[in-house]
Amino acid sequence: MTSSPQGTLGIDFGTSNSAVSWAGPREPARLLALEGTALAMPTAVFFNAEDHRTHFGRDAVAQYLSGTEGRLMRSLKSLLGSALLQEKTEVNHHKISYQEIVAIFLAELRQRAAKALGGAPTRVVMGRPVHFVDADPVRDAQAERSLLDAALSVGFEQVSFQLEPIAAALDYERRLSHERVVLVVDLGGGTSDFTVVRLGPDRMAQADRSRDVLATSGVHIGGTDFDHKLSLERVMPLLGYRHLGPQGREVPSRVFFDLSTWHLIQWLYSPRALSQAQALRAEYAEPRLHARLMTVLRHRDGHRLAHAVEQAKIGCSQNDADAAVSLSFIEAGLQATLTPDDLRGHLADLLTRTVACARDCVQRAGVADGALGAIYLTGGSSALRPFQRALQAEFAGVELVVGDLFGGVATGLAYSRG
Ligand SMILES: Nc1ncnc2c1ncn2[C@@H]1O[C@H](COP(=O)(O)OP(=O)(O)OP(=O)(O)O)[C@@H](O)[C@H]1O
Ligand SMILES: [Mg+2]
Repeated sequence: MTSSPQGTLGIDFGTSNSAVSWAGPREPARLLALEGTALAMPTAVFFNAEDHRTHFGRDAVAQYLSGTEGRLMRSLKSLLGSALLQEKTEVNHHKISYQEIVAIFLAELRQRAAKALGGAPTRVVMGRPVHFVDADPVRDAQAERSLLDAALSVGFEQVSFQLEPIAAALDYERRLSHERVVLVVDLGGGTSDFTVVRLGPDRMAQADRSRDVLATSGVHIGGTDFDHKLSLERVMPLLGYRHLGPQGREVPSRVFFDLSTWHLIQWLYSPRALSQAQALRAEYAEPRLHARLMTVLRHRDGHRLAHAVEQAKIGCSQNDADAAVSLSFIEAGLQATLTPDDLRGHLADLLTRTVACARDCVQRAGVADGALGAIYLTGGSSALRPFQRALQAEFAGVELVVGDLFGGVATGLAYSRG
Protein backbone atom coordinates (compact mmCIF):
# COMPACT_ATOMS: atom_id res chain seq x y z
CA MET A 1 0.00 0.00 0.00
CA THR A 2 1.61 3.26 -1.08
CA SER A 3 0.07 6.67 -1.85
CA SER A 4 -3.41 7.76 -0.83
CA PRO A 5 -6.00 7.54 -3.59
CA GLN A 6 -7.58 10.86 -4.67
CA GLY A 7 -11.25 11.08 -3.87
CA THR A 8 -13.77 11.03 -1.07
CA LEU A 9 -14.71 8.16 1.16
CA GLY A 10 -18.21 8.10 2.60
CA ILE A 11 -18.72 6.25 5.88
CA ASP A 12 -22.19 5.45 7.11
CA PHE A 13 -21.38 4.35 10.66
CA GLY A 14 -24.78 2.95 11.56
CA THR A 15 -26.21 1.73 14.84
CA SER A 16 -26.80 -1.73 13.36
CA ASN A 17 -24.94 -1.76 10.02
CA SER A 18 -22.16 0.22 8.41
CA ALA A 19 -21.39 0.85 4.76
CA VAL A 20 -18.59 2.61 2.91
CA SER A 21 -18.57 4.25 -0.51
CA TRP A 22 -15.98 5.88 -2.68
CA ALA A 23 -16.07 8.62 -5.31
CA GLY A 24 -12.95 9.49 -7.30
CA PRO A 25 -12.62 12.98 -8.82
CA ARG A 26 -14.50 12.05 -11.99
CA GLU A 27 -16.11 8.77 -10.99
CA PRO A 28 -19.63 8.14 -9.74
CA ALA A 29 -19.84 7.01 -6.13
CA ARG A 30 -19.84 3.26 -5.57
CA LEU A 31 -20.20 1.10 -2.50
CA LEU A 32 -17.12 -0.84 -1.51
CA ALA A 33 -17.32 -4.52 -0.65
CA LEU A 34 -16.60 -4.83 3.06
CA GLU A 35 -17.06 -8.50 3.87
CA GLY A 36 -16.63 -10.80 0.90
CA THR A 37 -19.03 -9.32 -1.62
CA ALA A 38 -21.36 -7.78 0.99
CA LEU A 39 -21.68 -4.02 0.69
CA ALA A 40 -22.79 -3.45 4.29
CA MET A 41 -21.66 -5.11 7.47
CA PRO A 42 -23.07 -5.30 10.97
CA THR A 43 -21.57 -2.69 13.28
CA ALA A 44 -20.29 -5.43 15.55
CA VAL A 45 -16.97 -6.11 17.25
CA PHE A 46 -16.13 -9.40 18.94
CA PHE A 47 -13.10 -9.68 21.20
CA ASN A 48 -12.36 -13.38 21.01
CA ALA A 49 -10.98 -14.65 24.32
CA GLU A 50 -9.80 -17.93 22.75
CA ASP A 51 -7.65 -16.68 19.86
CA HIS A 52 -7.22 -13.17 21.39
CA ARG A 53 -8.08 -11.58 18.07
CA THR A 54 -10.66 -8.94 17.25
CA HIS A 55 -13.38 -9.86 14.78
CA PHE A 56 -15.82 -7.61 12.94
CA GLY A 57 -19.18 -7.64 11.22
CA ARG A 58 -20.87 -10.95 10.35
CA ASP A 59 -17.79 -12.80 11.52
CA ALA A 60 -18.12 -11.14 14.97
CA VAL A 61 -21.81 -12.00 15.25
CA ALA A 62 -21.27 -15.58 14.05
CA GLN A 63 -18.46 -16.19 16.54
CA TYR A 64 -20.56 -14.90 19.38
CA LEU A 65 -23.60 -16.94 18.36
CA SER A 66 -21.56 -20.11 18.04
CA GLY A 67 -20.61 -19.80 21.70
CA THR A 68 -16.95 -18.80 21.33
CA GLU A 69 -15.64 -17.23 24.55
CA GLY A 70 -15.32 -13.47 24.25
CA ARG A 71 -17.13 -10.13 24.32
CA LEU A 72 -19.52 -8.85 21.68
CA MET A 73 -20.09 -5.11 21.21
CA ARG A 74 -23.12 -3.87 19.30
CA SER A 75 -24.99 -0.56 18.94
CA LEU A 76 -21.80 1.40 19.65
CA LYS A 77 -23.31 4.47 18.01
CA SER A 78 -25.99 4.58 20.69
CA LEU A 79 -23.24 5.37 23.22
CA LEU A 80 -22.11 8.53 21.40
CA GLY A 81 -23.14 11.54 23.47
CA SER A 82 -23.46 9.54 26.69
CA ALA A 83 -21.07 9.35 29.65
CA LEU A 84 -20.83 5.58 29.07
CA LEU A 85 -18.61 6.25 26.04
CA GLN A 86 -15.63 7.02 28.28
CA GLU A 87 -16.22 4.02 30.57
CA LYS A 88 -13.61 1.34 30.37
CA THR A 89 -14.31 -2.28 29.89
CA GLU A 90 -12.01 -5.27 30.15
CA VAL A 91 -11.35 -7.21 26.99
CA ASN A 92 -8.70 -9.86 26.68
CA HIS A 93 -6.97 -8.75 29.89
CA HIS A 94 -6.73 -5.06 29.18
CA LYS A 95 -9.05 -2.15 29.74
CA ILE A 96 -10.27 0.01 26.91
CA SER A 97 -12.96 2.63 26.60
CA TYR A 98 -15.98 2.40 24.32
CA GLN A 99 -14.60 5.47 22.54
CA GLU A 100 -11.55 3.37 21.66
CA ILE A 101 -13.77 0.54 20.47
CA VAL A 102 -15.52 2.98 18.09
CA ALA A 103 -12.06 3.92 16.78
CA ILE A 104 -11.09 0.25 16.38
CA PHE A 105 -14.20 -0.29 14.24
CA LEU A 106 -13.52 2.82 12.10
CA ALA A 107 -9.89 1.74 11.65
CA GLU A 108 -11.15 -1.59 10.33
CA LEU A 109 -13.52 0.13 7.87
CA ARG A 110 -10.63 2.33 6.68
CA GLN A 111 -8.38 -0.66 6.27
CA ARG A 112 -10.99 -2.59 4.29
CA ALA A 113 -11.53 0.45 2.09
CA ALA A 114 -7.76 0.72 1.60
CA LYS A 115 -7.67 -2.90 0.48
CA ALA A 116 -10.39 -2.27 -2.09
CA LEU A 117 -8.78 0.96 -3.33
CA GLY A 118 -5.11 0.03 -3.23
CA GLY A 119 -4.26 2.78 -0.73
CA ALA A 120 -5.60 4.32 2.45
CA PRO A 121 -7.96 7.25 1.87
CA THR A 122 -7.39 10.42 3.90
CA ARG A 123 -10.54 12.38 3.13
CA VAL A 124 -13.85 11.21 4.56
CA VAL A 125 -17.42 12.39 4.83
CA MET A 126 -19.12 10.77 7.78
CA GLY A 127 -22.86 10.50 8.13
CA ARG A 128 -24.60 11.75 11.21
CA PRO A 129 -28.26 11.57 12.27
CA VAL A 130 -30.20 14.82 12.56
CA HIS A 131 -29.98 14.28 16.34
CA PHE A 132 -27.58 11.88 18.01
CA VAL A 133 -29.28 12.89 21.26
CA ASP A 134 -32.80 14.38 21.31
CA ALA A 135 -33.28 17.87 22.78
CA ASP A 136 -29.75 18.21 24.14
CA PRO A 137 -27.50 20.24 21.83
CA VAL A 138 -24.50 19.99 24.17
CA ARG A 139 -24.50 16.19 24.26
CA ASP A 140 -25.33 16.12 20.57
CA ALA A 141 -22.23 18.20 19.78
CA GLN A 142 -20.19 15.91 22.06
CA ALA A 143 -21.38 12.89 20.09
CA GLU A 144 -20.19 14.39 16.79
CA ARG A 145 -16.91 15.45 18.42
CA SER A 146 -16.32 11.89 19.66
CA LEU A 147 -16.87 10.51 16.17
CA LEU A 148 -14.54 13.17 14.73
CA ASP A 149 -11.84 12.31 17.30
CA ALA A 150 -12.20 8.63 16.48
CA ALA A 151 -11.88 9.31 12.72
CA LEU A 152 -8.80 11.51 13.20
CA SER A 153 -7.20 8.97 15.52
CA VAL A 154 -7.30 6.25 12.85
CA GLY A 155 -5.54 8.30 10.17
CA PHE A 156 -8.18 10.31 8.34
CA GLU A 157 -6.92 13.85 7.78
CA GLN A 158 -9.93 15.69 6.40
CA VAL A 159 -13.14 14.75 8.14
CA SER A 160 -16.50 16.35 7.49
CA PHE A 161 -20.07 15.45 8.39
CA GLN A 162 -23.26 15.24 6.38
CA LEU A 163 -26.78 14.58 7.67
CA GLU A 164 -27.76 11.00 6.87
CA PRO A 165 -31.14 11.84 5.24
CA ILE A 166 -29.49 14.42 2.98
CA ALA A 167 -26.97 11.82 1.88
CA ALA A 168 -29.85 9.42 1.14
CA ALA A 169 -31.54 12.15 -0.92
CA LEU A 170 -28.39 12.76 -2.97
CA ASP A 171 -28.34 9.07 -3.84
CA TYR A 172 -32.02 9.03 -4.83
CA GLU A 173 -31.56 12.13 -6.99
CA ARG A 174 -29.39 10.16 -9.45
CA ARG A 175 -32.47 8.15 -10.38
CA LEU A 176 -34.76 11.08 -11.07
CA SER A 177 -35.51 12.33 -14.57
CA HIS A 178 -37.33 15.48 -13.48
CA GLU A 179 -37.49 17.82 -10.52
CA ARG A 180 -39.46 16.80 -7.45
CA VAL A 181 -39.89 17.83 -3.83
CA VAL A 182 -39.36 14.66 -1.84
CA LEU A 183 -39.75 13.61 1.77
CA VAL A 184 -36.74 11.38 2.45
CA VAL A 185 -37.20 8.96 5.32
CA ASP A 186 -34.23 7.15 6.86
CA LEU A 187 -35.41 4.73 9.53
CA GLY A 188 -32.43 2.82 10.83
CA GLY A 189 -31.45 0.93 13.95
CA GLY A 190 -31.12 3.86 16.32
CA THR A 191 -32.67 6.94 14.76
CA SER A 192 -35.38 8.09 12.37
CA ASP A 193 -34.36 10.99 10.18
CA PHE A 194 -36.41 13.04 7.75
CA THR A 195 -35.69 15.69 5.22
CA VAL A 196 -37.80 17.54 2.71
CA VAL A 197 -35.59 18.33 -0.22
CA ARG A 198 -35.88 19.62 -3.77
CA LEU A 199 -34.20 17.14 -6.09
CA GLY A 200 -33.64 17.01 -9.82
CA PRO A 201 -31.08 16.21 -12.49
CA ASP A 202 -30.43 19.91 -13.14
CA ARG A 203 -29.68 20.58 -9.51
CA MET A 204 -26.99 17.95 -8.98
CA ALA A 205 -24.13 20.03 -10.30
CA GLN A 206 -24.54 22.82 -7.76
CA ALA A 207 -21.85 22.68 -5.10
CA ASP A 208 -23.97 24.16 -2.35
CA ARG A 209 -27.28 22.36 -2.00
CA SER A 210 -28.32 23.96 1.28
CA ARG A 211 -31.08 26.01 -0.39
CA ASP A 212 -32.66 22.81 -1.71
CA VAL A 213 -33.02 21.38 1.79
CA LEU A 214 -36.35 22.75 2.93
CA ALA A 215 -36.43 21.15 6.40
CA THR A 216 -34.94 18.31 8.43
CA SER A 217 -36.16 16.55 11.55
CA GLY A 218 -35.10 13.53 13.53
CA VAL A 219 -35.98 11.51 16.56
CA HIS A 220 -34.07 8.93 18.51
CA ILE A 221 -36.30 5.99 17.60
CA GLY A 222 -35.21 3.09 15.43
CA GLY A 223 -35.26 -0.67 15.01
CA THR A 224 -33.37 -1.31 18.26
CA ASP A 225 -36.22 0.45 20.10
CA PHE A 226 -38.71 -1.81 18.34
CA ASP A 227 -36.66 -4.84 19.42
CA HIS A 228 -36.57 -3.47 22.99
CA LYS A 229 -40.32 -2.98 23.15
CA LEU A 230 -41.17 -6.34 21.57
CA SER A 231 -38.72 -8.12 23.86
CA LEU A 232 -40.19 -6.45 26.95
CA GLU A 233 -43.73 -7.31 25.96
CA ARG A 234 -43.30 -10.82 24.61
CA VAL A 235 -40.08 -12.34 25.96
CA MET A 236 -39.08 -10.69 29.24
CA PRO A 237 -42.27 -11.88 31.01
CA LEU A 238 -40.88 -15.41 30.56
CA LEU A 239 -37.89 -14.29 32.64
CA GLY A 240 -39.94 -12.56 35.32
CA TYR A 241 -40.82 -9.11 33.98
CA ARG A 242 -44.14 -8.02 35.59
CA HIS A 243 -44.10 -11.23 37.61
CA LEU A 244 -45.64 -10.88 41.06
CA GLY A 245 -43.47 -12.07 43.92
CA PRO A 246 -44.49 -13.64 47.23
CA GLN A 247 -45.38 -10.23 48.69
CA GLY A 248 -47.56 -9.39 45.69
CA ARG A 249 -44.94 -6.94 44.35
CA GLU A 250 -43.55 -6.98 40.82
CA VAL A 251 -39.95 -8.08 40.38
CA PRO A 252 -37.87 -4.85 39.98
CA SER A 253 -37.83 -4.19 36.24
CA ARG A 254 -34.43 -2.60 35.66
CA VAL A 255 -32.66 -5.82 34.66
CA PHE A 256 -35.33 -6.54 32.01
CA PHE A 257 -35.01 -3.06 30.55
CA ASP A 258 -31.24 -3.39 30.27
CA LEU A 259 -31.38 -6.93 28.92
CA SER A 260 -33.67 -5.83 26.08
CA THR A 261 -31.57 -2.76 25.19
CA TRP A 262 -28.84 -3.63 22.68
CA HIS A 263 -26.23 -1.15 23.93
CA LEU A 264 -26.74 -1.92 27.65
CA ILE A 265 -26.57 -5.70 27.54
CA GLN A 266 -22.83 -6.00 28.15
CA TRP A 267 -23.05 -4.20 31.51
CA LEU A 268 -25.17 -7.00 32.94
CA TYR A 269 -22.27 -9.45 32.94
CA SER A 270 -20.12 -7.68 35.54
CA PRO A 271 -19.74 -9.55 38.87
CA ARG A 272 -21.70 -6.77 40.60
CA ALA A 273 -24.60 -6.89 38.13
CA LEU A 274 -24.67 -10.69 38.34
CA SER A 275 -24.88 -10.66 42.12
CA GLN A 276 -27.67 -8.05 41.97
CA ALA A 277 -29.58 -10.28 39.57
CA GLN A 278 -28.97 -13.30 41.82
CA ALA A 279 -30.38 -11.34 44.76
CA LEU A 280 -33.66 -10.88 42.88
CA ARG A 281 -34.41 -14.52 43.63
CA ALA A 282 -36.35 -13.52 46.76
CA GLU A 283 -38.64 -11.31 44.67
CA TYR A 284 -39.94 -14.22 42.59
CA ALA A 285 -42.83 -16.51 43.48
CA GLU A 286 -41.83 -18.79 40.58
CA PRO A 287 -38.16 -19.88 40.89
CA ARG A 288 -38.09 -21.25 37.32
CA LEU A 289 -38.46 -17.75 35.86
CA HIS A 290 -35.52 -16.51 37.92
CA ALA A 291 -33.47 -19.52 36.83
CA ARG A 292 -34.09 -18.54 33.19
CA LEU A 293 -32.91 -14.99 33.83
CA MET A 294 -29.74 -16.26 35.50
CA THR A 295 -29.09 -18.72 32.65
CA VAL A 296 -29.17 -15.87 30.11
CA LEU A 297 -26.84 -13.71 32.20
CA ARG A 298 -24.37 -16.45 33.21
CA HIS A 299 -24.12 -17.73 29.65
CA ARG A 300 -23.84 -14.18 28.33
CA ASP A 301 -26.73 -14.86 26.00
CA GLY A 302 -28.21 -11.35 26.07
CA HIS A 303 -27.23 -10.50 22.49
CA ARG A 304 -28.40 -13.92 21.33
CA LEU A 305 -31.79 -13.15 22.84
CA ALA A 306 -31.92 -9.68 21.26
CA HIS A 307 -30.89 -11.18 17.93
CA ALA A 308 -33.67 -13.81 18.14
CA VAL A 309 -36.26 -11.10 18.81
CA GLU A 310 -34.91 -8.97 15.95
CA GLN A 311 -35.06 -11.88 13.50
CA ALA A 312 -38.64 -12.67 14.54
CA LYS A 313 -39.58 -8.98 14.12
CA ILE A 314 -38.19 -9.00 10.59
CA GLY A 315 -39.85 -12.33 9.72
CA CYS A 316 -43.20 -11.27 11.15
CA SER A 317 -43.10 -7.99 9.21
CA GLN A 318 -41.93 -9.52 5.94
CA ASN A 319 -44.45 -12.38 5.91
CA ASP A 320 -47.27 -10.58 7.73
CA ALA A 321 -47.58 -13.77 9.78
CA ASP A 322 -46.68 -15.10 13.23
CA ALA A 323 -42.97 -15.62 13.85
CA ALA A 324 -41.44 -17.79 16.56
CA VAL A 325 -38.67 -16.55 18.86
CA SER A 326 -36.80 -19.73 19.69
CA LEU A 327 -35.52 -19.62 23.26
CA SER A 328 -34.38 -23.23 23.56
CA PHE A 329 -30.88 -21.99 24.40
CA ILE A 330 -32.43 -20.84 27.71
CA GLU A 331 -34.63 -23.86 28.42
CA ALA A 332 -35.57 -26.84 26.25
CA GLY A 333 -38.74 -26.12 24.30
CA LEU A 334 -39.08 -22.52 25.47
CA GLN A 335 -40.36 -20.14 22.82
CA ALA A 336 -42.24 -16.90 22.34
CA THR A 337 -44.29 -15.76 19.36
CA LEU A 338 -44.55 -12.39 17.64
CA THR A 339 -47.76 -11.75 15.76
CA PRO A 340 -48.64 -9.02 13.26
CA ASP A 341 -50.95 -7.67 16.01
CA ASP A 342 -47.97 -7.43 18.38
CA LEU A 343 -46.12 -5.34 15.83
CA ARG A 344 -49.12 -3.10 15.27
CA GLY A 345 -50.13 -2.81 18.91
CA HIS A 346 -46.87 -2.74 20.86
CA LEU A 347 -45.09 -0.49 18.39
CA ALA A 348 -48.03 1.87 17.91
CA ASP A 349 -46.73 4.54 20.26
CA LEU A 350 -43.19 4.53 18.80
CA LEU A 351 -44.59 4.60 15.26
CA THR A 352 -46.95 7.46 16.07
CA ARG A 353 -44.02 9.50 17.38
CA THR A 354 -41.96 8.65 14.31
CA VAL A 355 -44.71 9.62 11.88
CA ALA A 356 -45.31 12.83 13.88
CA CYS A 357 -41.65 13.69 13.32
CA ALA A 358 -42.14 13.19 9.57
CA ARG A 359 -45.22 15.42 9.68
CA ASP A 360 -43.27 18.08 11.57
CA CYS A 361 -40.61 18.04 8.86
CA VAL A 362 -43.15 18.56 6.06
CA GLN A 363 -44.92 21.26 8.04
CA ARG A 364 -41.72 23.18 8.65
CA ALA A 365 -40.82 22.89 4.99
CA GLY A 366 -44.09 24.70 4.23
CA VAL A 367 -45.01 22.12 1.60
CA ALA A 368 -48.58 20.88 1.11
CA ASP A 369 -48.94 17.08 0.85
CA GLY A 370 -50.19 17.49 -2.71
CA ALA A 371 -46.87 19.11 -3.65
CA LEU A 372 -44.79 16.13 -2.42
CA GLY A 373 -43.53 14.22 -5.45
CA ALA A 374 -42.69 11.09 -3.43
CA ILE A 375 -41.76 9.71 -0.05
CA TYR A 376 -38.42 7.98 -0.42
CA LEU A 377 -37.71 5.21 2.10
CA THR A 378 -34.27 4.12 3.18
CA GLY A 379 -32.84 2.40 6.28
CA GLY A 380 -33.65 -1.18 7.28
CA SER A 381 -36.54 -0.29 9.58
CA SER A 382 -38.37 1.57 6.83
CA ALA A 383 -39.33 -1.91 5.58
CA LEU A 384 -41.42 -2.46 8.72
CA ARG A 385 -44.95 -3.10 7.49
CA PRO A 386 -46.88 -1.21 10.22
CA PHE A 387 -44.56 1.77 9.75
CA GLN A 388 -45.27 1.94 6.02
CA ARG A 389 -48.99 1.66 6.74
CA ALA A 390 -48.88 4.45 9.33
CA LEU A 391 -46.86 6.70 7.02
CA GLN A 392 -49.15 6.05 4.07
CA ALA A 393 -52.19 6.82 6.24
CA GLU A 394 -50.63 10.14 7.28
CA PHE A 395 -49.63 11.13 3.74
CA ALA A 396 -52.53 9.63 1.82
CA GLY A 397 -52.03 9.62 -1.92
CA VAL A 398 -48.28 10.33 -1.89
CA GLU A 399 -46.26 7.60 -3.60
CA LEU A 400 -43.90 5.57 -1.35
CA VAL A 401 -40.66 4.68 -3.12
CA VAL A 402 -38.56 1.98 -1.47
CA GLY A 403 -34.87 2.70 -2.03
CA ASP A 404 -31.59 0.99 -1.26
CA LEU A 405 -32.26 0.20 2.38
CA PHE A 406 -28.68 -0.44 3.49
CA GLY A 407 -26.41 1.38 1.02
CA GLY A 408 -28.17 4.62 0.11
CA VAL A 409 -26.75 6.79 2.85
CA ALA A 410 -23.15 5.72 2.24
CA THR A 411 -23.43 6.29 -1.51
CA GLY A 412 -24.84 9.76 -0.95
CA LEU A 413 -22.06 10.61 1.50
CA ALA A 414 -19.40 10.15 -1.14
CA TYR A 415 -21.46 12.45 -3.40
CA SER A 416 -21.23 15.12 -0.70
CA ARG A 417 -17.47 15.30 -1.44
CA GLY A 418 -16.82 17.12 1.85
N1 LIG B 1 -37.28 -6.29 6.65
C1 LIG B 1 -37.16 -5.58 7.76
N2 LIG B 1 -38.25 -5.18 8.46
C2 LIG B 1 -38.15 -4.46 9.58
N3 LIG B 1 -36.96 -4.05 10.11
C3 LIG B 1 -35.85 -4.42 9.47
C4 LIG B 1 -35.87 -5.19 8.28
N4 LIG B 1 -34.59 -5.40 7.87
C5 LIG B 1 -33.81 -4.79 8.78
N5 LIG B 1 -34.55 -4.20 9.75
C6 LIG B 1 -34.08 -3.42 10.91
O1 LIG B 1 -33.35 -2.34 10.38
C7 LIG B 1 -32.40 -1.90 11.37
C8 LIG B 1 -31.08 -1.65 10.70
O2 LIG B 1 -31.25 -0.72 9.68
P1 LIG B 1 -30.01 0.14 9.13
O3 LIG B 1 -28.90 -0.76 8.77
O4 LIG B 1 -30.56 1.05 8.11
O5 LIG B 1 -29.68 0.94 10.46
P2 LIG B 1 -28.35 1.76 10.82
O6 LIG B 1 -27.95 2.57 9.64
O7 LIG B 1 -27.37 0.81 11.36
O8 LIG B 1 -28.91 2.67 12.02
P3 LIG B 1 -28.91 4.27 12.18
O9 LIG B 1 -29.02 4.87 10.82
O10 LIG B 1 -30.14 4.52 13.02
O11 LIG B 1 -27.66 4.57 12.90
C9 LIG B 1 -32.34 -2.98 12.41
O12 LIG B 1 -33.02 -2.53 13.59
C10 LIG B 1 -33.09 -4.15 11.76
O13 LIG B 1 -33.74 -4.96 12.73
MG1 LIG C 1 -28.46 4.45 8.98
